[in-house]
Amino acid sequence: LYAADSVRPQFHYTPYQGWINDPAGLIEWNGRHQLFSQFNPVAPYWGPMHWSHADSPDAVHWHELPVALFPPDPQNPADTSGRYTGSAVLDKNTGALQLIFTDFTDTTFHPNAVPEVVSSAKSTDGINFPLYSGNPIIAGPPAGSPSGFRDPKIFWDPIENSWKLVVGSGDATSGKVQLFTSSDPNLLQWSYVGVLTEGDGSTGTMWECPNFFPLDDKWVLFYGGDSVGWYEVGSYNGTKFTSEKIGLLDQGPDSYATQWYVDSAGRNLAITWMGNWPTSKWPSRVNGWAGVQSITRELFIRDDGGLGSKPIDEVSTLASGSATVLGATNVHGTITVGSSNTARLQLSVDLASTDAPAFTILLYSSSAEHLGLTYTVANRTLTVDTTNAGYGQAGTWSAVIAAPSNNVLTLDVLIDRSSVEVFVGDGTAMTATLFPRYQESQDIKIVSNGGKTVFQSVSLTPLGSTWI
Ligand code: FRU
Repeated sequence: LYAADSVRPQFHYTPYQGWINDPAGLIEWNGRHQLFSQFNPVAPYWGPMHWSHADSPDAVHWHELPVALFPPDPQNPADTSGRYTGSAVLDKNTGALQLIFTDFTDTTFHPNAVPEVVSSAKSTDGINFPLYSGNPIIAGPPAGSPSGFRDPKIFWDPIENSWKLVVGSGDATSGKVQLFTSSDPNLLQWSYVGVLTEGDGSTGTMWECPNFFPLDDKWVLFYGGDSVGWYEVGSYNGTKFTSEKIGLLDQGPDSYATQWYVDSAGRNLAITWMGNWPTSKWPSRVNGWAGVQSITRELFIRDDGGLGSKPIDEVSTLASGSATVLGATNVHGTITVGSSNTARLQLSVDLASTDAPAFTILLYSSSAEHLGLTYTVANRTLTVDTTNAGYGQAGTWSAVIAAPSNNVLTLDVLIDRSSVEVFVGDGTAMTATLFPRYQESQDIKIVSNGGKTVFQSVSLTPLGSTWI
């Protein structure tokens, strides 16, 4: 599907036309993973928000379903009122799939409206999502949330044995997460608990897309502030979160609005929008679309207490052919591993035997352009460089990688037509979009200058289509 569009990712979810941003409503329901997205089918630009919908047996192969939520006035694209980001829960009484989301009203067209309230829709067939007739279920922000009030995320609180909802907000000086609770079996009545946690202003003054959940013996908070996706790891007592560690969810330019869910196997999973407001340029608009959702990632607490992620195991089922495998390989100068723009590249580097100061992996490469991924040994820095990577954003982004205890650095790189996701063994993720100018820009090379880089193994696996 869509193979004629040379920049359309093949093994990632993209809209059939138009624009997507945040993933939403992630849940495994009736044995299938559910993925909704902020969606404007009318144009490859943000606009009146619909929710697109796809489902999957394995969280990597997606089946497109009809639009789940429509804006109140889809015939008037100038009125940007719509259904903003939200979350999903199983209604245990009826087996229904319930969505709880921000109902946004454009006050240019509706001057007396409260711009952001929380609403609900429920589906028994997983296709049609009739709105609750009593909407909104939360009529507006509690006092002290002038910056906004959006992106409700439901979670089960095992400390108080009750359903809770976090909503993003903020004021002039700090981002905040507002906490609500419900004892209503239909999850339609909510009462305000208080501020779960707030920032000091350094991570933004309006926190979007909060997610809050237990992981191992810790609690994890996600939020986006000033277009940067943060995590905090800490503790929770039923009303307040105390942070112990803060970091970036992804160190690349194109990751925002990350959403968490737990699957039936108990894995903590996440999908991030492979885009962001300031960085992503979407030259794919000439082909009628903009926006990509990431591969499904599994979350874990890193050795240093931070939050790590890696591709879920099911990514291996996307393989469309056998891998090219190089065993132990010493690279001096440049070698070509293969040629593909829809593939997975997995490397392990023996740092103890490597004497080159740095090595670079070139992706989407031809004589005209390339993306560079450089690891500098002395300062353990991994840098993604899109300066010569065609249309779109140009820049460099760096992350410091933890020293691997066995001195073996592992990299798992997903390459998909106009995106790259890099996962390092320590749990670091770096995500970037790039739009090659030429279809032949597909070479995958390793460059080691000033010494040798010693690989224990290099494998390149072609990956196929996500669509089922
Ligand atoms: C985050 C966000 C959310 C909002 C949605 C609107 O990217 O701004 O806060 O619900 O996008 O599309």
